[in-house]
Amino acid sequence: MNDSGQIVSVELGSRSYSISIDTGNVAQTGVLLRTWLNLAADRPLKCFVVTDTNVLHPHANAVKKALTATGAEVRVVCVKAGEDSKSLKELSDLYDELVDFKADRKTVVIAIGGGVIGDLAGFLAATYARGLSFVQIPTTLLAMVDSSVGGKTGINHPKGKNLIGAFHQPVGVLIDIDMIATLPDREYCSGLAEVIKYGVIMDAEFFSYLENNIVGLNNRDPDVVAHIVARSCQLKAEVVQEDEFETTGLRAILNYGHTYAHAFEALGGYGALLHGEAVSIGMVCASRLARKLGRITDEDVKRQIELLRAVQLPVDVPETLQNRPDDILNCMLLDKKTVSGDLKFILPDRIGHVETIGGIDSQSVVACLS
Ligand SMILES: NC(=O)c1ccc[n+]([C@@H]2O[C@H](COP(=O)([O-])OP(=O)(O)OC[C@H]3O[C@@H](n4cnc5c(N)ncnc54)[C@H](O)[C@@H]3O)[C@@H](O)[C@H]2O)c1
Ligand SMILES: [Zn+2]
Repeated sequence: MNDSGQIVSVELGSRSYSISIDTGNVAQTGVLLRTWLNLAADRPLKCFVVTDTNVLHPHANAVKKALTATGAEVRVVCVKAGEDSKSLKELSDLYDELVDFKADRKTVVIAIGGGVIGDLAGFLAATYARGLSFVQIPTTLLAMVDSSVGGKTGINHPKGKNLIGAFHQPVGVLIDIDMIATLPDREYCSGLAEVIKYGVIMDAEFFSYLENNIVGLNNRDPDVVAHIVARSCQLKAEVVQEDEFETTGLRAILNYGHTYAHAFEALGGYGALLHGEAVSIGMVCASRLARKLGRITDEDVKRQIELLRAVQLPVDVPETLQNRPDDILNCMLLDKKTVSGDLKFILPDRIGHVETIGGIDSQSVVACLS
């Protein structure tokens, strides 16, 4: 299967955009950008590129080169890699840079990096001069399949992740599969957890494709990676198209495994488990919960565990967390998605389909930690 050169459309009326997925297409950044902006080749273009210290060489430099080649004026600002950069301080420094760059309403903000850079630069674009055009060039697997699609942007507050944010859709997303080559193994595998999630929540056939392509997944076979990125983007786009602003409840299905995962991340101290690793363990717990409630078979649980294991993802709750069931429950009750103490979970009724289930007793929830 070859999905290089794919375009996935996100249909959101006047906010519609394309996701261009290919190998080596970073060289086309300038041309694509002008197409997305409907801007003739001889018109001036100012680009404000935000990246991080791990992505600057070679990826952000390649973007800069491609933009400069089409006559754009480019400023690259590099922030420290890591979640700590999703802060008010970093955002404030970026506003200063935009002022210094003499940015105007036509300046385009380009995020090149993982989800941290996408969220930070996206929020910058959402808020500066009441909104600048924004382009995502995701460089982690997680950002390619999840955070760069859907328009959620934001930064962290010391008291909570993503507490300050806005919906701001990009004008386009450019995914160059070649950029995955420099990604550390742990980060790559972490992204695979979200890919597997799409299979469980929406697409049984895709789940089977993943089961049948373990070697390609583990070797980062370009055709396999291009296919999983394209299919994941399509599935996320379908959900976002139906529930852009998270009002109908449909978008919540993307949180499969995440109620457990958020508790593991918070208690493990952000950073001990990567997000995808926590989601992997969270999906195992949620599938056990679905089994306990008689919604799925033992075989459906086993298939998820085996697939996650096969791509080197953790599937067991760390012992330090298993011994803290009360803390885990408290974290879940404090979760902003929990309403008046009713623990809600996204649970499968088969591979490829999930539903939101409320009124689950806390004993069952903690029983599924092991
Ligand atoms: N907006 C959304 O819808 C959404 C969805 C999911 C997650 N998120 C956010 O995304 C963030 C996590 O994203 P992430 O996992 O991409 O983390 P990240 O941005 O921190 O990237 C992970 C690490 O990989 C490095 N890196 C990135 N690309 C690289 C490359 N090609 N080669 C080598 N190193 C590279 C980064 O410097 C960083 O050290 C969180 O802040 C989360 O809240 C947002
Ligand atoms: Zn996630």
